[in-house]
Amino acid sequence: MNHHAVSNTTLQVSLGERSYPIMIGAHLLANPESIVTFLPAPRVMLVTNETLYPLYGEALAAALRQHGIHVLKICLPDGEQFKDWPALNQIFDALLEYACDRKTTLIALGGGVIGDITGFAAATYQRGVPLIQIPTTLLAQVDSSVGGKTAINHPRGKNMIGAFYQPLLVLADTDSLKTLPEREYRSGLAEVIKYGLGLDAEFFGWLEANIDALNCRDAAALAYAIKRSCEIKAQIVAADERETAKDGGRALLNLGHTFGHAIETALGYGVWLHGEAVACGMVLAAQLSHQLGSLDAASLGRAVALIRSVGLPIAMPDIATDAILEHMGRDKKNEGGNIRLILPSTIGTSVVNATVSTARIGAFLDSQKLKA
Ligand code: NAD
Ligand code: GLY
Repeated sequence: MNHHAVSNTTLQVSLGERSYPIMIGAHLLANPESIVTFLPAPRVMLVTNETLYPLYGEALAAALRQHGIHVLKICLPDGEQFKDWPALNQIFDALLEYACDRKTTLIALGGGVIGDITGFAAATYQRGVPLIQIPTTLLAQVDSSVGGKTAINHPRGKNMIGAFYQPLLVLADTDSLKTLPEREYRSGLAEVIKYGLGLDAEFFGWLEANIDALNCRDAAALAYAIKRSCEIKAQIVAADERETAKDGGRALLNLGHTFGHAIETALGYGVWLHGEAVACGMVLAAQLSHQLGSLDAASLGRAVALIRSVGLPIAMPDIATDAILEHMGRDKKNEGGNIRLILPSTIGTSVVNATVSTARIGAFLDSQKLKA
């Protein structure tokens, strides 16, 4: 389908007085009026990184200034290894240096790293200031910018220090994905597949049928994948904002993440991309579910085939089982010492399982390494 035939969409995250729109479409950044109307005062701190400022930040700042907005900016170093205290402090230092007040809006322009760290800064600076998310990676457009999870990493664990804090607006300009490096793009597709495998069989089938188009960034296919992913996420977040539902709720969005976060942390932040670790984590969750007699062989085969067709890792990296188990033991979903896994039971449905012992998970991981 022709790029210009792709229409813009606005979805809503319904959270009472904290509800907000997700605007998805092409050319959105070229016209910042939609941003301006959300600002409680004509002052913003643009938080971005060294890579994105020359690509999109400079033009956005200039366009906002043309609308009479006072724009301050901070460029953080680029990388998952900088989603940490020193980078967070850089934001606080800049906000204090310029005496930013409670109506200064923080604008996060970037991928999940910038979105998560800026969101946490917005949640905590002067006990909370307005936040707008402008995600520029596929992963951030389909997942991290929506739903209000903000955090920084600790050397001992991913996203261990953070807050739930919703933005005023999410603005996803699909044009910005054109400059995204291939490996980052594929990493984002892992989270898209997560929605299909864990929550929506029909979407999974659509992904299987359209994976070639997605692999070559076909604009129409991409627009639909982003829209559908955000619809699913918005619905889940509206029903279980703080991940407390007994039946799984928001925790199901963590499919692949219990193994994935452990892999990411054990390898060292930035060695495997987040989406790569999640992809491998989804394969492990599917394999374990199959071993436990839940997911059938045909569905396991479909899950692995789709992940493989995107070029994402389907085999465990070489990490000691003890190290993985240690990180899994610190997962935020755990309760009373039990590891809570999200396991797919069919294509499109998943469950929380807290009954698999650590020893059993260890034996499972060892068996996967032998296969690799
Ligand atoms: P990222 O933020 O590191 O971005 C990936 C790379 O692409 C970076 O080098 C970035 O500078 C570059 N980049 C970004 N947009 C670009 C563009 N348009 N053109 C060219 N280069 C561009 O990584 P990510 O995959 O976006 O995010 C991963 C992070 O998101 C992880 O820290 C993960 O924990 C977090 N996450 C959070 C949530 C949540 O709910 N808050 C959900 C999923 C993931
Ligand atoms: N990325 C998982 C969540 O937002 O809950």
